[in-house]
Amino acid sequence: MARLYVTILVSVLMATTNCLADGWTTIRNGSVWLDTNGDTVQAHAPGFLHYGGRWYMIGEDRSDSWHPDVNMYSSDDLVHWRFETKIIRNGVTVPELGTRRFIERAKLMHNPRTGKFVVWCHWEGPRYAASEAACFSADSICGPYRLEWSGRPLGVKSRDCNVFVDNDGEAYFVSTTEENTNIGLFRLADDYLSAESHVCLMPGLRREAPVIVRHDNLYYMLSSACTGWAPNQCMLSVSKRLDRGWSQLEKIGDDKAFRTQAAAVIEIKGTKKTTYLYIGDRWMDPDLPSSKIIIFPIEFKDGKCIFEYRDEFRINFATGEVE
Ligand code: DGJ
Repeated sequence: MARLYVTILVSVLMATTNCLADGWTTIRNGSVWLDTNGDTVQAHAPGFLHYGGRWYMIGEDRSDSWHPDVNMYSSDDLVHWRFETKIIRNGVTVPELGTRRFIERAKLMHNPRTGKFVVWCHWEGPRYAASEAACFSADSICGPYRLEWSGRPLGVKSRDCNVFVDNDGEAYFVSTTEENTNIGLFRLADDYLSAESHVCLMPGLRREAPVIVRHDNLYYMLSSACTGWAPNQCMLSVSKRLDRGWSQLEKIGDDKAFRTQAAAVIEIKGTKKTTYLYIGDRWMDPDLPSSKIIIFPIEFKDGKCIFEYRDEFRINFATGEVE
């Protein structure tokens, strides 16, 4: 009888934790995530950092749709998210935040040279007219974060954004520039706290939500068209160099990016293989606070990207395998 109880208990635990005893974790898409306190996870347009063996996720808290604070969560398995803290608060971290400015697409990096944690984000005002960026830094991953700088990077109007850290430790801010016309690539200073140079990529192609990944010495950029909160076709461009040579846009996935818009691609380096997970926002589902975070495995090979939605998949974080 005792053994029966133990078996039932273990089965219930395994079902509720999503983590099977053999090291496989099941990730399911389509629902609002709940954190380990049972509260809705609010981290839209998320940015990720793998640090100290854990995943840290920061993103827009859209509980109050148009005044997002930035929340931080952490997880071992991308399923169980512990709320860490609000790393940026309206009216507190910066007085004008929440009135004259709001934040979108906050992304997190760690600078091994300075030891600092650095956040870059879109720093916007009414009607998206400000077209600015902002940079925050902290000595510890959970903060406190303080504003380093805000404005148009190197004088360039900048909206949707992301960050990319290359294998050599050089970091870049990539954003949609000049009224959603171009993609701008800004090389950051060694301390990641300011932009040092800018090149215009994809002139006139009107792309946003850029995500850059490096795989096998090729750079891959995913991006969307500019249709507000409505999903549209995800496109791929590939280059041997970050600052030039990006190929013509190529459609990947279905015509609505499976009702998502790209936020990040993270790399799971396992003992058997490296797996890439796409993370996108399913905005307005049906309202802004209920927007969903969607994750599915994607593959990069010889300049192509296999981009197929999965309602559910299993991943082994130790080996990197997915099913
Ligand atoms: C699409 C962008 O990717 C989002 O971050 C947000 O700026 C919306 N547009 C606003 O319409």
